[in-house]
Amino acid sequence: MEGVYVSEHPLVRHKLTLLRNSETNSTQFRELVRELAILLCYEATRDLVLAAKTVQTPLGPAEGAELREAIGLVPILRAGLGMVNGVWEMMPSSEVWHIGLYRDEKTMRPVQYYNKLPIEPRVQVCLILDPMLATGGSAVATTTLLKKWGARRIKFVGLIAAPEGIKAMRDAHPDVPIHVAAVDDHLNDNAFIVPGLGDAGDRQFGTG
Ligand code: PRP
Repeated sequence: MEGVYVSEHPLVRHKLTLLRNSETNSTQFRELVRELAILLCYEATRDLVLAAKTVQTPLGPAEGAELREAIGLVPILRAGLGMVNGVWEMMPSSEVWHIGLYRDEKTMRPVQYYNKLPIEPRVQVCLILDPMLATGGSAVATTTLLKKWGARRIKFVGLIAAPEGIKAMRDAHPDVPIHVAAVDDHLNDNAFIVPGLGDAGDRQFGTG
């Protein structure tokens, strides 16, 4: 589907399988979320704009490049937190903005409880980080908030999506590319992705 990028990298497929396994403990789970986030953001940032830059090596000038765009990492709390650190180490000049949302268990709609955006957007590209794209409510609400606030280029980076979540994002925000490790079969009656991996927040933070 246009605008939806499902990684076929062998490392991603291997690590995602470990992540899904219910025998994976929370220490291993956190490490896998961190590694998968790095791999997926690596793929999602392949179109970042560069400026030419020449440096002097010990043997003379070398033509090179440097990133021209500033990047904002936007984890959706809680589960998105585990996707931040590894990506931040790769792009240390990024800014990190936290958005707190939880899904109301009855309505399945996202409820915002925290938002720490700077007054003015200072970056050219925002990467929304959330392991799960289930109904899509959280990702749609976060994207709407970022756009209202003035962000122009936004990408969603997740681990597992349901077809329902992808459709909701494509309908509401067709300009936002979606990068994930897998698109699963369906949502169950509790809006959990099947087969999925369970609750990404609880498995990371040991609160299940
Ligand atoms: C989960 C997940 C996403 C959201 C996805 O968060 O981490 O943020 O649900 O669902 P949606 O696509 O239907 O909106 P949850 O509400 O469990 O909060 P948590 O991250 O704090 O555990």
